[in-house]
Amino acid sequence: MSENILFNQGQSISSKYDFSKTYLSADIFKKKDGSGPAPSPQFPERITLSDGTDIPLIGFGTFRLNGGHGVNTMLQALKTGYRSLDTAVNYENEGAVGEAIQRTSLNREDLFITSKLPGRHQKFDDTITTIQESLFRTKLDYFDLYLIHWPNPLADNYVEAWQGLIEAQKMGLVRSIGVSNFLPEHLERLEKETGVLPVINQIELHPYWSQPKQRKFNKDHGIFTQAWSPLGRANAVLQDETIRKIAEAHHKSIAQIILRWELQLGVGVIPKSSSSKRQFENLNLFDFELSTAEVNLITNLDKPNGRTNNQDPAIYQEF
Ligand SMILES: NC(=O)c1ccc[n+]([C@@H]2O[C@H](COP(=O)([O-])OP(=O)(O)OC[C@H]3O[C@@H](n4cnc5c(N)ncnc54)[C@H](OP(=O)(O)O)[C@@H]3O)[C@@H](O)[C@H]2O)c1
Repeated sequence: MSENILFNQGQSISSKYDFSKTYLSADIFKKKDGSGPAPSPQFPERITLSDGTDIPLIGFGTFRLNGGHGVNTMLQALKTGYRSLDTAVNYENEGAVGEAIQRTSLNREDLFITSKLPGRHQKFDDTITTIQESLFRTKLDYFDLYLIHWPNPLADNYVEAWQGLIEAQKMGLVRSIGVSNFLPEHLERLEKETGVLPVINQIELHPYWSQPKQRKFNKDHGIFTQAWSPLGRANAVLQDETIRKIAEAHHKSIAQIILRWELQLGVGVIPKSSSSKRQFENLNLFDFELSTAEVNLITNLDKPNGRTNNQDPAIYQEF
């Protein structure tokens, strides 16, 4: 497909892949009270969050994509068909995200841009100012989603930061507000003290750390789970023998099997790749389906110490 076709305004990935034929068995999202989108055999490219916003199921991770290399890699991802970019103040690449967006002819409303509040700015006023600075760097008028990056429970400012995000949403700086790396106790406290639950919780999730309890908690509370490091940062999971056999059976790569497993768990994914071939591979997940037995085989690979970097949100703090 030529670059021009990909850059036609309003062109979406769904014109590249026939999503209408896509089928996933997962009940991907239902609200706590049982309302919300009914489970459907037609699995959309986007999913509706509990606040009514649509989010692409597959986004593009941008950690470590900085400067000119970062801009080129993100541009390539947008050309390949990604419409969602995941950045953070602490990645120091919001400028590269803005530059990549400026260099495309894509409409702003066709993009979904996420950024994250760092621990050092978890005060009410600071939260608003930090989001405004993120907007200046990305040259955007609003974010589709802004997350508290880590709860930092020892510093204990995350409720105040959440109140800042609620205010930022009222001001129109962000469309949807969410969190990242929040445990059930942190989410319960947000609900108790502000009455507002996040629409999304972005958490570490891959076959060696599949987080069944946190996933269930999120789902029961109408919070969509999005997986960070969905490929385990290319660790040993990409050589896993069980997944390799499933990949062979489907004539797909191990990475594709892992990402498809995550989608079938009802989880969104944001894989990062510097390679256009692997970017394409990571988007191309809708022409096959894993059986329930295959999903369970991968889910059973979960390890008690399966985190990639030993970052336990109960004690880990990042500023
Ligand atoms: N909220 C948080 O606290 C948090 C924490 C970490 C990350 N994140 C977000 O999550 C995103 C994704 O996580 P991540 O970047 O840590 O790790 P990841 O996406 O799980 O893995 C990236 C690694 O996998 C390789 N890779 C990608 N596609 C592949 C494929 N098809 N086959 C083989 N190897 C492949 C990449 O290499 P190549 O580039 O060479 O292809 C890279 O080394 C981040 O970029 C960031 O946006 C959020």
